Amino acid sequence: MREALVLAALVSVAAARMAYVFSSGFEDVIGTPSETFSCEGRPYGYYADVDNDCRVFHVCLPIVGEEGEASTVAHFSFFCPNQTMFSQESLTCSNSQEAFPCQDAASIYELVNAEFGRIPDQNIDLRNE
Ligand SMILES: *[C@@H]1O[C@H](CO)[C@@H](O)[C@H](O)[C@H]1NC(C)=O
Repeated sequence: MREALVLAALVSVAAARMAYVFSSGFEDVIGTPSETFSCEGRPYGYYADVDNDCRVFHVCLPIVGEEGEASTVAHFSFFCPNQTMFSQESLTCSNSQEAFPCQDAASIYELVNAEFGRIPDQNIDLRNE
């Protein structure tokens, strides 16, 4: 339990500094990003950054405290390879012809991210096997 608390504290300290922190050379690919996207209040998931034309995406990770309450949301930012954009439908960096339309990405945040951790229905009836 104590280890969990220490870990949660470390993650939240680290997380506070991870938003819009990219690997070196990002400016050559995405220029100067606008920093408008926030993970605050968002559930776990991957989020295309519409204000950066989906060349940036974010991972939001709620940090759950000891009492089960979400104390903060860790925020990690990434950029897609040159000439690609984050497709909110497939959660991959894709070329713009294949990617889900960036302007509509926010409309499916919830739908797509709700799939994390969901066990698909398999309709297996073990009694008849
Ligand atoms: C990105 O791709 C374009 C087109 O192929 C190219 O002109 C440009 O130099 C590339 N930029 C980087 C940072 O690789």
